[in-house]
This record gives sequence, C-alpha cells and structure tokens, in this order.
Amino acid sequence: MMSYSQLLKEAFKATRNSYAPYSRFRVGAALLTDEGEVVTGCNVENASYGLSNCAERTAVFRAVSMGRRRFKAIAVVSSKVNPVYPCGACRQVLREFNPGLTVVVADGRGRPLTTTLERMLPNSFGPESLRRKRGR
Ligand code: THU
Repeated sequence: MMSYSQLLKEAFKATRNSYAPYSRFRVGAALLTDEGEVVTGCNVENASYGLSNCAERTAVFRAVSMGRRRFKAIAVVSSKVNPVYPCGACRQVLREFNPGLTVVVADGRGRPLTTTLERMLPNSFGPESLRRKRGR
C-alpha cells in the first residue's frame, strides 16, 4: 500500500529529471493508479518557452500511453517552494480521468497536505458534458 508520504517521495525523485533551464523551477509529479502502480513525470521546458510541459501532464500522458487511465491520487512537488498546486491547464487534463482525484502536495517541511480536484476545479467541463442524456 502506497502512502501519501511515499507518493510525495516519488514526486521528489522525479524532479531530478526535470528539464527546466529557463525557469530553474523543477517540478515532479507522481500518479497513483487504481492498481497501486506509480507513474511519475517532470516538467520539460523548451527554448520556445510556450511549448513547455508541466510535470503533471507529463505523468498523465505517460500513464495513458502505458494503458493506465484509472487514477486515485497525484502528488506534486517543486524542488524550490512548496506547496505547489497544479496549474489550470493540468487541472483540466487530470479532470478528464477522475474529477474526484486526490491531490497531494508537500507542506513547508515536506509533509503531505491533501485536497481534491473537485475543490480545485468546481463546475468543471468533462466527457459527460459532451453527451446528451437519452430518453428526454
Ligand atoms: N510547472 C509544473 O510543472 N507544474 C506546476 O504545477 C506549475 C508549473 C512548471 C512549468 C514550468 O516549466 C515551470 O514549472 C515554471 O512555471
């Protein structure tokens, strides 16, 4: 069983691979799947700054590419200042797969703080929004 502090630790490890020569702000994310696996991601910046990808989306796209779509939680940390919460774009990408996802961040001392995606992205748009209810 993966604890939230273990998941945070995996996110911290993922910051080592961060490619952030422009912002110098290293971010790591660790997604916990329903099966108990952990898929990590880091931010990957680009000389064309706007093409940079956040750690959270790297983790989601890696996981989906591996055939995993069911997630319980995501831990997000930076190597600089914590807590750091997912940006708006990443909230929307995470929402696609689990609107009730648990979001774990580190407090100033590296201990887990938890919240949910629903709290961070209320009244959200998702796959169900595209489907018209039948029988009406
Ligand atoms: N970043 C993330 O990877 N995740 C976040 O939640 C916040 C921002 C990255 C993007 C960019 O590479 C750097 O942090 C500074 O914005």
